[in-house]
Amino acid sequence: MRILGIETSCDETAVSIIEATGDWNAGFEYQVLGNALLSQTIHSHYGGVFPNLARREHENNLVPLLEKALDEAEMLEAGTSSTEEIDEILHRENDLRPQAEEFLKTHTRPEIDAIAVTHGPGLEPALWVGVNFARALATAWNLPIVPVNHMEGHIVLSAIAGKKDENVSFPLLSLLISGGHTELVLSREWMHYELLGQTRDDAVGEAFDKVARMLNLPYPGGPEIDRLAKRARAEGVESPEQLPRPMIDTDDYDFSFSGLKTAVKRLVEAQPSITETLQMGIAREFEEACADVLVAKTMRAIEEHNIESLVVGGGVSANEYIRERLAESIKNYGLTTQLLVPPRELATDNALMIALAGYFRALKKEFAEPTMVRASGNLKLV
Ligand code: KG4
Ligand code: ZN
Repeated sequence: MRILGIETSCDETAVSIIEATGDWNAGFEYQVLGNALLSQTIHSHYGGVFPNLARREHENNLVPLLEKALDEAEMLEAGTSSTEEIDEILHRENDLRPQAEEFLKTHTRPEIDAIAVTHGPGLEPALWVGVNFARALATAWNLPIVPVNHMEGHIVLSAIAGKKDENVSFPLLSLLISGGHTELVLSREWMHYELLGQTRDDAVGEAFDKVARMLNLPYPGGPEIDRLAKRARAEGVESPEQLPRPMIDTDDYDFSFSGLKTAVKRLVEAQPSITETLQMGIAREFEEACADVLVAKTMRAIEEHNIESLVVGGGVSANEYIRERLAESIKNYGLTTQLLVPPRELATDNALMIALAGYFRALKKEFAEPTMVRASGNLKLV
């Protein structure tokens, strides 16, 4: 089956085309035929993502990225496709509509079987652009749509890309750490979820971004803190003060990062100036505080639920230190839990993860009528 994946939930616009066969742990194989992604750099000037700016960027990026992915897959062919309902479907997408119309008028329908699109969770205005683009393409090419939960995309990608050759056994625990989520999710079988716990306030990635901003570092802050903390450990630079480890000893699987963020704010404000040494020291201490809490709760969930596989997904799973600490703890606890982490370049948002999750949903025939697909900012996994 060939799946075209579309992702626009936050500030990455991405299109991916895969060819896949088999089922999970039963001869599953896939090939990436085309993959295109643009990270919206415009937000770095503002220190955060503005939904309406993101929306406009998605509108202008989607057609060029689709062309690039199709070209890579050798599926970009001159000809014509129907544009009958395009005006109506894209009536709000004033930047995207003329580009989509022109593209469809000048290209034939590619040999794909379904369109997978992120319908949530994420920034609703951003999600709608991807959803409506998917609806337009599905209508023009008479294809089914598979709506995909973005978080499931992270889980599926980490499980597949992290597993190498061996099979994955259950129960499986997913530690989802991104700009919008911090969750521990239990799966007793593939693509079934139970929520064990989640953040009560900020997501861990959000805390990385906000702390980076306090330290005058650019957005997104995660990679900056990762880099500076690593240098601090190598050079023995420490924070002027220790930071708290919120909720580390509570008898649940919940998290809280807003108090930690406030503690960083106070610490920064108490310093005469923000030097590079201070940035390094605080980055290190903050990263270690996050890792301590994430590792403690994850290990407890592994033990309590006899977890056989641990999936780590979401943008923060790119963090080298957090990955190392999880691997090291599994070893220190004498556990045989299989650790499934994505290649770092696929940890942050992309459309491959949407195409992959879409494939498994398509196997279950979870197709939707184009007119029925809606963006849902708060979409839940369970
Ligand atoms: O999954 P993702 O790309 O988008 C959401 O679904 O939210 O995650 C983005 C988040 C941002 O907060 C970013 O700062 C963080 O992931 N991030 C990192 C690293 N790379 C990205 N956080 C810590 N260390 C990193 N290396
Ligand atoms: Zn994400």
